[in-house]
Amino acid sequence: MREKIAVLMGGRSLEREVSLSSGRQVCAALEAAGYYVLALDVTADLVGTLRSERPNAAYIALHGKYGEDGTIQELLEFLRISYTGPGVVASALSWDKSVTKHLLAENGVSTPAWVTLTADAFKEMGAATAIDLMGEAVGGFPVAVKPSRQGSALGMRKVQSAGQLAEALLDALSYDTAAIVERWIDGTELAITVLGTGDEVEVLPAVEIVPTGALYDFDARMAADGADFFVPARVSADVAARAASIAARVHQLIGCRDVSRVDMVIDSAGVPQVLECNTSPGMTETSLLPMAAKAAGMTFQDVVSKVIAAALARS
Ligand SMILES: Nc1ncnc2c1ncn2[C@@H]1O[C@H](COP(=O)(O)OP(=O)(O)O)[C@@H](O)[C@H]1O
Ligand SMILES: [Mg+2]
Repeated sequence: MREKIAVLMGGRSLEREVSLSSGRQVCAALEAAGYYVLALDVTADLVGTLRSERPNAAYIALHGKYGEDGTIQELLEFLRISYTGPGVVASALSWDKSVTKHLLAENGVSTPAWVTLTADAFKEMGAATAIDLMGEAVGGFPVAVKPSRQGSALGMRKVQSAGQLAEALLDALSYDTAAIVERWIDGTELAITVLGTGDEVEVLPAVEIVPTGALYDFDARMAADGADFFVPARVSADVAARAASIAARVHQLIGCRDVSRVDMVIDSAGVPQVLECNTSPGMTETSLLPMAAKAAGMTFQDVVSKVIAAALARS
């Protein structure tokens, strides 16, 4: 009998539309690979549907909150349905940029200098009185201000001076209860896809992102011409090798499974500075992962087949 795969997509996160597009692509690839596919927009009917349908595995094509933060993973653990991507701990960890950065820094992986401020630190502890120290604490301006738990660059701003910090923090804190002030790294931005689990990982060629405008922000991501992409990236063989090995290390340190995408900027000294790790990377026609797969001589269907096979092997 054909194996039944529930593709979880959409949901209520701010990245709903991207997820619906990822989900459609994943459904098509799974169907072409011969699976019986159930496309499920995540709504209040989800648990009932999963209980009656009993899929052999779930493909998580959700992005952002609830899909990448451990919520759906907890639910699938409870329902005893195996799923793609990491378990609860690695999901919650990588969804939180601040916790991720602490883990990386403690393990000798370079990540831009930063401070994390929670809404409670402002409300209850007077953190606003230290705004003047924040730029200096991370090595000076410009800085990136962003919510600790969000995606698609939502709530991310490049801040040039202390005078703009309060507004940027307020904006970031409208997306999450914690915000990060992080040293801005001028350099080559790379997104590196890692496939596999544990020691058995394969790193795909890095995708270099050059935004058409000033920033690779939400609008640049949604627009067809928001950025130029170079695969493989236009970096030296040395830097490419270093970046690839760091991406694999980040994937392993966090405890990722099946697939992840590590975002980094190569600084002026050639050091990859890791920004974050995504456990459910975009799978749309214009996403970074399909570009990387193509450069590696894999089709999109190859990647999807590999990922679902790993989830099925855990069922
Ligand atoms: N410290 C930084 N230095 C340079 N660019 C940054 C920095 N932080 C964020 N960016 C830019 O903002 C984008 C979004 O930041 P990122 O940390 O990857 O969060 P997310 O993709 O989850 O929204 C990055 O792709 C990059 O273009
Ligand atoms: Mg990112």
